[in-house]
Amino acid sequence: MDLRHCVIPAAGLGTRFLPATKALPKELLPVLDRPVIQWGVEEAVAAGAGEIVVVISEGKELIQEHFSVQPELEALLQKRGKLDELEAVRASDHMASFTWVRQDEPLGLGHAVLCAADAVGDRPFLCMLPDDLSYGPDPVLRQLVDAYREHQTPILALMRVPRDQISRYGCAAVVESHGRIHRVSAVVEKPKAEDAPSDLAIMGRYVLTPNIFEALRSTQPGAGGEIQLTDGIATLLDAGAVHGVEFTGELLDVGTPAGWLATNARLAMDDPTLAVALRAAVEVGAR
Ligand code: UTP
Repeated sequence: MDLRHCVIPAAGLGTRFLPATKALPKELLPVLDRPVIQWGVEEAVAAGAGEIVVVISEGKELIQEHFSVQPELEALLQKRGKLDELEAVRASDHMASFTWVRQDEPLGLGHAVLCAADAVGDRPFLCMLPDDLSYGPDPVLRQLVDAYREHQTPILALMRVPRDQISRYGCAAVVESHGRIHRVSAVVEKPKAEDAPSDLAIMGRYVLTPNIFEALRSTQPGAGGEIQLTDGIATLLDAGAVHGVEFTGELLDVGTPAGWLATNARLAMDDPTLAVALRAAVEVGAR
């Protein structure tokens, strides 16, 4: 099995987080002590990916800098005996091998994935949207890798949502189900609640096979004039089976101010020191 590559589309505009994202890529907003995208890369590495392909747009080069070696900073930390900090800095530039790909125009998620075609080559790969952070004992990408090992087909991460929220997501119709693994029979991007074939939302974690690139090349712009990844996946369904995993654990939103705040609070409560500080701050605010 060859699932060494993980594509991380990070060329979006981040309009839901303006003005914070006016100059700073949303992927570099911190969640506790590290940027959003580092949480994503750590999840990919834990799932076995060592080659990270990040799709960025002009103005987002700072993401690249975060993962590159900073010799002067490292020398300074060494000199000052700040060894824990040095280790943390080194961890972020030695965690994987990176390829940086440009998306020149924000033509949609499907187009962003297509931009990674040459970097990935003719092999299956993982894909993750860093806007959601995997939370729970078994990282979501790893659950998808396990399903891929069993089925050798594209794998989608699925989550049940209340019917009135399905129009915010891609939606999967499923036919055969074995526990949490379903065979997908159709996918539709952002259906109206009354038209949705199920309550299973397609979340931003995938195992994709290389024929997705051909499918995306022939995909016409859909909702919002963008090339949708969901439409490319619909073409894959014509070529063979696609499976979905109703994953365990949670994906926590970090792409909006409310989601980001809640995610920071959730993670802080798991850290003894931060939990004390957070509780104290909330109590003061409640007075
Ligand atoms: P979003 O729908 O969250 O869009 O993209 P966005 O631009 O990042 O953020 P908002 O909605 O304006 O606040 C989902 C994922 O697809 C990537 C984004 O970077 C994000 O990881 N994407 C989207 C691209 O890489 N290129 C695109 O053209 C569109």
